[in-house]
Amino acid sequence: MNQLLNKVAVITGGNSGIGFATAQVFLTNGARVLITGRKEAAVNQAVAALGSGAAGFVADQGKLSDADALAAHVKAEYGQVDVLFINAGIAQMVPFPDASEQHFDDVMNINFKGAFFTAQKLLPLLKDGGTIVFLSSISAISGMVGNAVYSASKAALNSLARTLTRELAPRNIRVNVVNPGPIATPIFEKIGLPAEQLEEAKGRLGQAIPLQRIGEAVEVARLVAFLASDDAKFISGAEVNIDGGIMVHPVATL
Ligand SMILES: NC(=O)c1ccc[n+]([C@@H]2O[C@H](COP(=O)([O-])OP(=O)(O)OC[C@H]3O[C@@H](n4cnc5c(N)ncnc54)[C@H](OP(=O)(O)O)[C@@H]3O)[C@@H](O)[C@H]2O)c1
Repeated sequence: MNQLLNKVAVITGGNSGIGFATAQVFLTNGARVLITGRKEAAVNQAVAALGSGAAGFVADQGKLSDADALAAHVKAEYGQVDVLFINAGIAQMVPFPDASEQHFDDVMNINFKGAFFTAQKLLPLLKDGGTIVFLSSISAISGMVGNAVYSASKAALNSLARTLTRELAPRNIRVNVVNPGPIATPIFEKIGLPAEQLEEAKGRLGQAIPLQRIGEAVEVARLVAFLASDDAKFISGAEVNIDGGIMVHPVATL
């Protein structure tokens, strides 16, 4: 408890799923939290549900002008930031032969380009000794069928984090990546699969995981809170899988 006392945290995509759960855990640990989202009503609803210590700002991570506006808002309201959690992302299942330029741009603009420039534009406000956590995916390092652009967008994030780990170290800014496996959040309803196929896929995924279940958003949130806290002050450049063991190759079992 109070791992993040008096720290200021910005969480992109905080109105839902892992971002929202992380805002809750950060608040419980004493932080002040600014969440972003692209829909005003959803952001307002989330801020009201989060309660004291939470605030919201409408910013589309796919728009660079919104990243500028976010940085100006953060500077005016908070001055400086201790924790930047770049979490917003979208997933769309599209087989490689069907992937259009529009699909490529939509996913890359939010998941990678937007993440890149949000971090860049907020960097001058990040305190020396502050920290950045990027929310990636095991897709960054595995081969997930029907997920070429999403996986590449996440792999690019992991690469960016490695570079920033070294570039920002002189300011004692730590940079880490969290790679979740399947986590029960509203993202599943947004990926474009029919309801029946989605339920079947979730069941199959759960069985493929050594711990025999899909993860919970709060489980990822607790990991992010740890990485963001001073308890992790010698951890930088880490890419942590949180996946119930799915990245351990099953062929290794006799
Ligand atoms: N759930 C999983 O199994 C899983 C596994 C690996 C990685 N991840 C990653 O975890 C992160 C969080 O996803 P989640 O599972 O928590 O899904 P989620 O419930 O859909 O949350 C994603 C959040 O990002 C927001 N967002 C999407 N596009 C945005 C944009 N252009 N600008 C600002 N906000 C935007 C969403 O807002 P809206 O409500 O407007 O959509 C939502 O608040 C994503 O980066 C995702 O790729 C998830």
